[in-house]
Amino acid sequence: ASTLGASAAERGRYFGTAIAAGRLSNSQYSTIAAREFNMITAENEMKWDATEPQQGRFSYSQGDQIVNFALSRGLKVRGHALAWHAQQPDWARNMSGQALRNAMLNHVTQVATYYRGKIHSWDVVNEAFADGGSGARRDSNLQRTGNDWIEAAFRAARAADPNAKLCYNDYNTDNWNDAKTQAVYRMVQDFKSRGVPIDCVGLQSHFTGGSNYPSNYRTTLSSFAALGVDVQITELDITNANATAYANTVRDCYAVPRCNGITVWGVRDSDSWRSNESPLLFDGSGNKKAAYNSVLSALNEG
Ligand code: G3I
Repeated sequence: ASTLGASAAERGRYFGTAIAAGRLSNSQYSTIAAREFNMITAENEMKWDATEPQQGRFSYSQGDQIVNFALSRGLKVRGHALAWHAQQPDWARNMSGQALRNAMLNHVTQVATYYRGKIHSWDVVNEAFADGGSGARRDSNLQRTGNDWIEAAFRAARAADPNAKLCYNDYNTDNWNDAKTQAVYRMVQDFKSRGVPIDCVGLQSHFTGGSNYPSNYRTTLSSFAALGVDVQITELDITNANATAYANTVRDCYAVPRCNGITVWGVRDSDSWRSNESPLLFDGSGNKKAAYNSVLSALNEG
């Protein structure tokens, strides 16, 4: 096929992008988004600070813009993110203990209920593990409510939207030998063994370039999949859009049957959180880059 989404669909997978509500009125942006991709993630609009700016007062207008953009065009939606230490509203950042735990669970319940039936997969918990070699949980206000906060969030999400796939999402979990990757793996293994409702693992995959591409990425993807979860690449971008690394990412995903989707973190380089690294598939004028052609051929090789 001749677009990223259609090519992925031929193999029973999706190819998505992150979208910002504030850019949808730009017709170049929205035309590319709707033409090339068949899964949409809200880059910021469904996070806690956006959806519950004051405790118990929910605000869905920006998230709805993105969900409506996607669903009205037949594109699916990846929900991002229900529980995360970052981008919390001020009121939550100042909370702790049982009050924070209850507020977090209420947030998960309310947002997942509001969007019930519209979300393909939810990033239920985002970035809960520490960087470096410790393999520990990241210290955060949520972690300090008790080590079981992650499973509590997953159970609340399942109760609120039983048909959405529930994912754990993180970065620097690409290299199979890293302590952080191993720690997330053990958590998922534990959740599966105890019946905690988890369906998928998202690897953000913010890569830094060609030579740093993790040579054992395929092992990481297949190892998670072997636990009985789907695996998705959820925020892909690569320094200078190295075309070989982009193609390798597609090939490594496609080598794993349960790697069922890839999302790039933005449309054009100028839309990227790393815009000075030109890490995406379209340039700032909306032209396809070499990396685009490399990804499309890899998708069509299947
Ligand atoms: O909307 C306000 C605007 O009103 C204000 O004038 C402006 C001034 O700073 O800030 C705007 O908000 C910014 C927002 O992006 C929208 O552009 C925030 O400051 C900025 O912090 C925020 O950055 C986002 C970042 O998450 C926050 O953690 C990036 O767009 C977004 O790409 C990035 O995405 C994360 C994923 O959610 C999780 N994984 C890592 C990834 C990259 O950091």
